[in-house]
Amino acid sequence: MNRIDFTHNTQAAEVIAAHYDSPPLAFVHSYGCQQNVNDGEKIKGVLVDAGYGLCDKFEDADLILFNTCAVREHAEERVFGNVGALKQLKAKNPRLIIGICGCMTQQEGVVERLRKSYPFVDLVFGVNGIDTLPQLLAEKMGAGKRLLKTPTQRYDVVEQIPIQRDSTFRAWLPIMYGCDNFCSYCIVPYVRGRERSRKSQDILAEFRQLIEQGYKEITLLGQNVNSYGKGLEETIDFADLLEQLCQQPGDYHIRFMTSHPKDATKKLIDTMAKYPQLCNHLHLPVQSGSNRILKEMNRHYTVEQYMELINYAKEKIPGITFSSDIIVGFPGETEEEFEQTLDLISKVEYMQLFTFIYSKRTGTRAAEMPDPFTHKDKTNRMARLLKTQEEIASRLAKGMIGKQCRVLVEGHSRQPGTLAGRLDNNLVVEFAGDAALIGSYTTVNIEDARVTMLKGSLQA
Ligand code: 5AD
Ligand code: SF4
Repeated sequence: MNRIDFTHNTQAAEVIAAHYDSPPLAFVHSYGCQQNVNDGEKIKGVLVDAGYGLCDKFEDADLILFNTCAVREHAEERVFGNVGALKQLKAKNPRLIIGICGCMTQQEGVVERLRKSYPFVDLVFGVNGIDTLPQLLAEKMGAGKRLLKTPTQRYDVVEQIPIQRDSTFRAWLPIMYGCDNFCSYCIVPYVRGRERSRKSQDILAEFRQLIEQGYKEITLLGQNVNSYGKGLEETIDFADLLEQLCQQPGDYHIRFMTSHPKDATKKLIDTMAKYPQLCNHLHLPVQSGSNRILKEMNRHYTVEQYMELINYAKEKIPGITFSSDIIVGFPGETEEEFEQTLDLISKVEYMQLFTFIYSKRTGTRAAEMPDPFTHKDKTNRMARLLKTQEEIASRLAKGMIGKQCRVLVEGHSRQPGTLAGRLDNNLVVEFAGDAALIGSYTTVNIEDARVTMLKGSLQA
């Protein structure tokens, strides 16, 4: 791992300034996971550093960037659709620059498709090239032609990248990049490259800065936070890092995602139990409740091992809630194997599930596996899964009625005049309150529950 610091590129900023008659505006949109959203915040920071202003409507922009996701086919097709819609805009304003970055661009076929079918796209850049964006823009402006090639993988960890955060009270804090696990269905290791952990001192410095700036909720990010520390010179694991962060004074709480069950430890659970700043919620994606499917997925744990950790967490952290990712219809998943997943979710009692129908990703091992089941079989299974989950979540949420809970007020809720606050256990409560409360902690009495949405009132 090579750690480098971001530096302002004066030359590139000058080329960019000279290209426009008035200060230019950029529109950046990120798809997909929180890691990508955080990358989008850095892209905006780098653009501001290079002289751009930011705008919320792509119609106003001199530069449009789509920061893409490749995890499922549906996400990719959405991007192609949205890029296609920009054709008219480019026809009206030939100086408009359209760029595509993020996970999709790391795949050869995608760049080829953009080159051939989307002639109005000017540039692509990869997942780990955010700091080089001003240089690329200056090159594009100088050369006047399209810069489209599949980005090469780069393994530098770049610190001090300027950032324009979307929120003033909730922040993403990446602790590692990439993934080494090669789950057989997943494209991420191919597009985001091998695991690299940030040095703990860099993470701590950013963490302290966030607390000083008044951030209340800090979510640590990584494809597999539990393998944090691998490859670093210092001897440190994820639980040690959490200990270090929790020593910092201030009024804040910490979340983290994503945990891989094969690397989540009892030490992690003990650390969560020890510090009140660590939320009573664990996102622990199980993917399937069948040991055969887990093996085919290359997940390296069994249902029994998974349940042991869940039961340990339930015992050590009263009131803890769990969430998970589930893939329905992995190639060859039988009816019986699917029912084992239903069985598992009933045993764990997740508060929330992120459910996905298996999507074939070219280049992964699962893409080569035979699959006798139809899409209709899979959507039927999905409906059954959601029904089972809804019953569980409703029951758990009803159990919250009558409690008084400290919440972080996140914003307006659906009903006019109401706010949404997030509990420590990751449930959301809707209550009447003044917008001035947004971004601060308050206490709410929980009075009603509809599936996972709680209703309540401000404590007098
Ligand atoms: N098909 C469906 N779901 C997938 N995921 C990752 N790859 C695929 C795929 N090919 C899901 C997994 C993962 C989540 C982020 O996305 O459940 O945990
Ligand atoms: Fe994909 Fe598995 Fe890595 Fe998660 S842990 S990003 S599912 S390969």
